Amino acid sequence: MQFFIDTASIEQIQEAKDFGLMDGVTTNPSLMAKEGITGQQNILDHYKKIADLVDGDVSAEVISTDYEGIVREGKALAEIAPNIVVKVPMIKDGVKAISHFTKEGIKTNCTLVFSPGQAILAAKAGATYVSPFIGRIDDITWPGMDLIRDMAEIYAIQGFETLILAASIRNALHIVDAAKSGADVVTSPLSAYMGLLKHPLTDIGLAKFLADHEKANS
Ligand code: E4P
Repeated sequence: MQFFIDTASIEQIQEAKDFGLMDGVTTNPSLMAKEGITGQQNILDHYKKIADLVDGDVSAEVISTDYEGIVREGKALAEIAPNIVVKVPMIKDGVKAISHFTKEGIKTNCTLVFSPGQAILAAKAGATYVSPFIGRIDDITWPGMDLIRDMAEIYAIQGFETLILAASIRNALHIVDAAKSGADVVTSPLSAYMGLLKHPLTDIGLAKFLADHEKANS
């Protein structure tokens, strides 16, 4: 399973890169706004900075919601760097644009996916990645992880090559469950990955090893 970091913060991306396990980056308009990146040229420049920093794929989201606008914006984003993936919302014109990008050889990430039916449409259109939003489904008391399991089953039966990118990940348990449920990629803030490190027996065991060493060597 690949680990993507879900942020537009250069500092966080650098930290994840230094940790050594980062395979790619996802962003969205809310994350860009949170970093104070506004204005078309600044947005393109910021994506370029991220793409240069990262070896793997970087999802950059379109703002347009009509077919012509999505295609125009997506092409401009794809021209920034070869590792830019055009992130397109799961709407009718978005699916049409993903089909177009697929024919043009432009990588896509179909975002805001909340049902198996939407996941089938994204895969039929040839999306490189599809992003089911697990945390947001959990937020309305539906089990978000069921969607990953359904998608993994459908994609395996149908032979779809679209990669399942588990998104809206809020904690370390989400990452473990996404791995068990068949996600190809998980995207998450760095804090959830750091949560994977934690176990009290590790801390207790390490303290004992160090104390025994200290006793024997003093
Ligand atoms: C995915 O690509 C999105 O950027 C992200 O995971 C959404 O997460 P949120 O529901 O925590 O905003």
